[in-house]
Amino acid sequence: MAATPKEGTAGADTVSPALELEDLEVQLLLEAVFRRYGFDFREYAPASLRRRLWRRVHAEREQTISGLTEKLLHEPQSMERLLLDLSINVTAMFRDPGFYVSFREKVVPLLRTYPFTRIWVAGCSSGEEVYSLAILLQEEGLYERARIYATDINESVLEQAKTGVFPLEKMREYTQNYIRAGGKQAFSEYYIAAYDGAQFQRSLIENVVFAQHNLVSDSSFNEFQVIVCRNVMIYFDRSLQNRVHRLFYESLAHLGVLGLGQKETIHFTPFEEYYEELDPHEKLYRKTE
Ligand SMILES: C[S@@+](CC[C@H](N)C(=O)[O-])C[C@H]1O[C@@H](n2cnc3c(N)ncnc32)[C@H](O)[C@@H]1O
Repeated sequence: MAATPKEGTAGADTVSPALELEDLEVQLLLEAVFRRYGFDFREYAPASLRRRLWRRVHAEREQTISGLTEKLLHEPQSMERLLLDLSINVTAMFRDPGFYVSFREKVVPLLRTYPFTRIWVAGCSSGEEVYSLAILLQEEGLYERARIYATDINESVLEQAKTGVFPLEKMREYTQNYIRAGGKQAFSEYYIAAYDGAQFQRSLIENVVFAQHNLVSDSSFNEFQVIVCRNVMIYFDRSLQNRVHRLFYESLAHLGVLGLGQKETIHFTPFEEYYEELDPHEKLYRKTE
């Protein structure tokens, strides 16, 4: 029978030998993945990481985390499957619509004062957030003087993003989100039904550059007026979050805007004092120093 994860069996100040062993196996797997493929998950939040590794252990019909490590080392295709599990690509168009309402109210007027705007969408997954921002900028008459750099660690989601085809059955939900996000037209004007999905207007990605970029190991590649990184750092431990905040701080222009996800904040990071709140509820911050 396959081994199962033993969670929460230890007392407050004792760690069971089984958990210690599991910890060691996880560390060795992460080290192996890093040394063999260069993907660094060593500072991802451990609880969610362990859950996902066990899911993959079972899916690959292995018995233990060490069994999975061996397979990963010898079969690159199993690494691709693990990458999909670990990179958690859940996303949606106009996700958390209040964010877009606030972006229109508080960020758009700032962008109007610039001749040109560079926006970095870090951890863009399959692109729904990028198309949403492109629609918003177009409706505000700002798209022509903007360039969006959309990056993710996972190349296969970027390929999906470039196609601009999203599931037709999602359109009802996305239309609701769009309306709640303050959308100004009929959402259906932006896509046609094609290839078993909704094909979004190609013009929406005319000014978008899609590129693979790893927030853990890659450096800054430009200076931006806006950085949007939502629902990515929740998967990182505190020290990795702080490193990524440094990267964003160094990549933002003076008075640049940082947009985070609902469950994320600039507070309790070493960079807190260098930002002012544009909208604390929608997690929009402005670099002041
Ligand atoms: C939950 S999705 C968030 C998508 C989108 N930002 C949103 O809020 O809907 C998280 C994304 O972060 C990406 N990601 C995870 N680790 C990353 C890393 N080290 N560097 C860049 N992207 C990463 C994943 O591949 C995934 O597409």
